Amino acid sequence: MKLVIGNDHTAVEMKNEIKAYLESKGHEVINVGTDTTDRFHYPVAGYKAAKLVASGEVDGGVLICGTGVGISLAANKVKGVRACVCSEPYTAKLSKMHNNSNIIAFGARVIGVELAKMIVDEWINAEYEGGRHAERVAMLSEIEETGHLKAAE
Ligand code: RB5
Repeated sequence: MKLVIGNDHTAVEMKNEIKAYLESKGHEVINVGTDTTDRFHYPVAGYKAAKLVASGEVDGGVLICGTGVGISLAANKVKGVRACVCSEPYTAKLSKMHNNSNIIAFGARVIGVELAKMIVDEWINAEYEGGRHAERVAMLSEIEETGHLKAAE
């Protein structure tokens, strides 16, 4: 897979470990995060990663900040992106299977690197099921594209 990884200053070490881990599994990983611990605004990395995912230049993304929240919020502002913060593998797997997540996010101040590896493994190996979930994911796109949801009117 071709992936993008992004992070802020709280997550440099974890980014490096997860990037190396993904590469050791044969994935190509583009780094759009910071490589220093100087203060770095998480929307920058979230936005850059999201643009690569939304354009189809990469197959998916991994985003890490202190909690995973800020960087995923930034990514989710880009049309076509479904970034999910997950602190354990079950939610990560289901976020792909049911919600067709295209970015996984987590917090370097929340989980350890071994758990982060399990999360990315489950997420990468999961497949979107479509079927009954497709209608709901389409509703997410409808809200994003029109600002409205017909089913809620
Ligand atoms: C940085 O202090 C911190 O706010 C950031 O890494 C992240 O947790 C925000 O959601």
